[in-house]
Amino acid sequence: MAENMENVLAALKALRGVDLSGYRSDTLQRRVVARMAQAEIADVDEYTRRLHLDPDECDRLISMIAIKVSSFFRDPIVFELTAQKLLSDIIHRNRRKDAPGGDIRVWSAGCATGEEVWSLAILLHQALKGQRSDWTVQIFATDLDPNALATAETGVYPRERLENVKLGVLDRYFVAEEGGYRIRPFLRRMVRFSQDDLISKQRHAPAESVFGTFDLIFCRNVLIYYSRDVQDHMFRRLRRSLAPKGYLVLGNAEGLNTEMESKLQTIDRMNRIYRKTR
Ligand SMILES: C[S@@+](CC[C@H](N)C(=O)[O-])C[C@H]1O[C@@H](n2cnc3c(N)ncnc32)[C@H](O)[C@@H]1O
Repeated sequence: MAENMENVLAALKALRGVDLSGYRSDTLQRRVVARMAQAEIADVDEYTRRLHLDPDECDRLISMIAIKVSSFFRDPIVFELTAQKLLSDIIHRNRRKDAPGGDIRVWSAGCATGEEVWSLAILLHQALKGQRSDWTVQIFATDLDPNALATAETGVYPRERLENVKLGVLDRYFVAEEGGYRIRPFLRRMVRFSQDDLISKQRHAPAESVFGTFDLIFCRNVLIYYSRDVQDHMFRRLRRSLAPKGYLVLGNAEGLNTEMESKLQTIDRMNRIYRKTR
């Protein structure tokens, strides 16, 4: 990577704590150039100076680099399997022996604009049916892009972004308002959002989640943008964050690396569902 491009990344790291140095360099280069064109700056060194003078420009650049394509119940079969197999197994295993209910912890890592985590919250709410009040459900949603997180947290989507959402689900979990549909407050209370960089070496789980490990981690369509060695680091972090027998779900074009093949059990190779064995 050109030295002046490295300076751009160093500025993002110093000013925003976001390390994109492992991002695929062709994607990175293209997106920095696109952002510079929008900002009407032709010279990379001048653009680096702008980043230092205007921290909001760092957020705009992060947003430009991070690819945020997402949708509700993206790859519906994966969500179908999550509801039928993974959540029912988690609910069965986590049920308290001596009292009703139990604890469940879920992490949507790289949640982008929130469609994934709201889909998970809906499935979990449906799976717990009438017993919801007996269960302590904690769903964490993280992303490195603060703009995407803000949209996720607001939880308002125009109708065309809800094409995979069935009518009954729309009525039960959203309120129609001008310009779109808003997630209902009872669902909103199930999810905590925070900025988190999966490459961070300081911690293995999002800071908000305190020390916990997770029964289910969705990390879909995030690793694909990174080089092999950065993926290796992310995999170790994700594995450490899994509870014993916890599930990891990756994107359709993502697979485990060799190290993780031996450390995680493959539940469904085609749909990229894995489980921590110990
Ligand atoms: C293509 S979206 C995937 C959204 C969702 N998981 C899905 O599959 O629909 C990728 C998201 O990963 C986020 N991301 C990229 N690198 C990240 C990192 N190092 N740590 C946390 N999030 C990251 C991006 O900001 C973006 O929102």
